[in-house]
Amino acid sequence: MYTIVERQEVTPNVKMFQVHAPAVAHKARPGQFVIVRASETGERVPITIAGTDPEAGTVAVYIAEVGKSSTELGKLKKGEDFLNFAGPLGNATEIKDYGRVLCVGGGVFVGAMLYQMRALKEAGNHVVAVFGYRNKDHVMLEDELRAVSDEAYVCTDDGSYGQAGMGVVDELLENQRFDIAFAIGPTSLQKELCEMTLPHGVPTRVNLFPIMVDGMGMCGACRVTVGGDTRFSCVDGPEFDGHKVDFDELIMRMRVYNPQEKIAMVVYNREVG
Ligand SMILES: Cc1cc2nc3c(=O)[nH]c(=O)nc-3n(C[C@H](O)[C@H](O)[C@H](O)COP(=O)(O)OP(=O)(O)OC[C@H]3O[C@@H](n4cnc5c(N)ncnc54)[C@H](O)[C@@H]3O)c2cc1C
Ligand code: FES
Repeated sequence: MYTIVERQEVTPNVKMFQVHAPAVAHKARPGQFVIVRASETGERVPITIAGTDPEAGTVAVYIAEVGKSSTELGKLKKGEDFLNFAGPLGNATEIKDYGRVLCVGGGVFVGAMLYQMRALKEAGNHVVAVFGYRNKDHVMLEDELRAVSDEAYVCTDDGSYGQAGMGVVDELLENQRFDIAFAIGPTSLQKELCEMTLPHGVPTRVNLFPIMVDGMGMCGACRVTVGGDTRFSCVDGPEFDGHKVDFDELIMRMRVYNPQEKIAMVVYNREVG
């Protein structure tokens, strides 16, 4: 059993959990993920690791309630347990002194991006960060963003807080030199970033979120095309060279179960009243 030692409502649909999982806390590195389950009947849900405290044996994760399984997870309370908390899975981000680093995070994934940024900062990098959110109500971890980065920018899709859209990334790429860019966030944001960094010749690493089932390279659910080759995100990634990822195929594959997901949510809402 993996007990929730802390739970915070970060935004109306995002919960932060500190979970007692000593084995994961000891091994995990930025870029890796866990696969969790709320109960025996629950679905396996992949979630990126957003921090660890090896001494306390805890792991931090941020979960956005977007459908049935994530809503079930979001309802777990402090003192309750995750039935499964398997990991760390996937390959860690290569942390070293690259020089000047651009970090772009979006939505619930900014928690995981902060974990990576702290490690990049400790390795000696100059870290410029842009965090994007849907609107003002979804802005989270802004103080932490400013504390960790050398330069920080906040954007919202509708301009209700910070700058409108991702134009600031274009401006940064025009006016500053970057040795590498990292992105953790919605796939559309990662695609947009890669289109912006390519003409500037900035290598761009993206942490992908395809549909996953086993997380161990056996089911094939998470396959992505990278540089024309088929790769399994769970074992070959989840981080890849963004300029080689076939984002259109990835986005199409991520939508494959949308009708079933909508039905599952309607049925779940009826069941829980
Ligand atoms: C490596 C990885 C790390 C992730 N990290 C986080 C995180 O830190 N925080 C967070 O809130 N979410 C994260 N996700 C996404 C999270 O797994 C999905 O939001 C969740 O599985 C949705 O399930 P649902 O039943 O609530 O929603 P559904 O209604 O079933 O699906 C909503 C959308 O979520 C995606 N999704 C559904 N099932 C899966 C699945 N088995 N695997 C991956 N995506 C799925 C699909 O794009 C789908 O359209 C991550 C996904 C991956 C692959
Ligand atoms: S999730 Fe099954 S192969 Fe990656």
